[in-house]
Amino acid sequence: MRNVGFFMVGKKLFRQVKDFCCLVFKNNILNNILFTQEEELSANTQKEDLAAKAGIITGAASGIGRATALNLAAAGAGLLLADMALEPLQELAAEIKEAGGKEPVTLKVDVSDQGQVRDMVLKAKESFGSVDFMVNSAGILRRTGFTEIPAEEWDLMLAVNLTGVFYCCQEAAKVMVEQKSGSIVNVSSLAGRSTSILGGAHYTTVKHGVVGLSRHAARELGPNGIRVNAFCPGATITPMTETSAQKEERDRASAATPLRRWAKPEEQASVIAFLVSDASSFMTGACLDSNGGALMV
Ligand SMILES: NC(=O)c1ccc[n+]([C@@H]2O[C@H](COP(=O)([O-])OP(=O)(O)OC[C@H]3O[C@@H](n4cnc5c(N)ncnc54)[C@H](O)[C@@H]3O)[C@@H](O)[C@H]2O)c1
Repeated sequence: MRNVGFFMVGKKLFRQVKDFCCLVFKNNILNNILFTQEEELSANTQKEDLAAKAGIITGAASGIGRATALNLAAAGAGLLLADMALEPLQELAAEIKEAGGKEPVTLKVDVSDQGQVRDMVLKAKESFGSVDFMVNSAGILRRTGFTEIPAEEWDLMLAVNLTGVFYCCQEAAKVMVEQKSGSIVNVSSLAGRSTSILGGAHYTTVKHGVVGLSRHAARELGPNGIRVNAFCPGATITPMTETSAQKEERDRASAATPLRRWAKPEEQASVIAFLVSDASSFMTGACLDSNGGALMV
């Protein structure tokens, strides 16, 4: 009798547990719990892997480059910050140090000068022992109309926004080939996917060039464990755009964007951090858009 009683209680308990499990699965509660844990895990993993990395950001004194420096520093990455403008770089380095980040190395570099780029990469290698990532954000914008672009302005645009990116990729790749690892992120633009809404034809041309350069470098360097991706931000509020577009023009661009606004530099920096990190470990030769829906291809 006692055994039968135990059997009945056990059977009832089993049925209740079974029903509860079905309910949980039906409502996806367990899935949600599991996914939440996985998301936390992957967020932690990205932060941990960035904390173990060190690399270079060009154009770090301002806008998207600056926001990227703050993002990667917050994740614990070692940084060499490069720009033509040294003073804002030093202020940024002090800000990062004060916030508890690793003290960045700062360097005045003109990316269109191959010798300076070579020294920059050597300095990063000396400082950190490796160059795990290279973010190329340095750039200029010019708005001159098609028939008015002087040859010198065309040459300057190519020298900074395309040849400069090539020099940085090439020098970083030399170190990365030895390491058999590395991630290069080249900041192209929505202009590199279509045409520029703010810049001139030379700006559109070089940004398309950055996409081609990134894809080719990805093909050649992939077998060495090096990833190269182009990042294509849309309209973003930075000193570059604030000084070149009037408010009415910015409002028109917002109205033509499904999200009805411009990006903040931080929103672009987090995509760059993703491309730098191992969270994007199978992505190379990609052209990643972040444009509020302004271009959907
Ligand atoms: N802001 C946007 O809407 C937008 C959109 C698409 C792409 N981009 C691209 O993003 C990148 C960053 O732009 P931003 O908006 O942050 O501009 P920004 O002007 O705020 O920052 C650019 C930085 O590059 C530096 N720089 C310029 N020439 C240099 C050189 N020869 N050597 C080293 N540093 C140099 C400048 O001193 C500046 O600090 C650029 O490549 C730009 O073309 C910007």
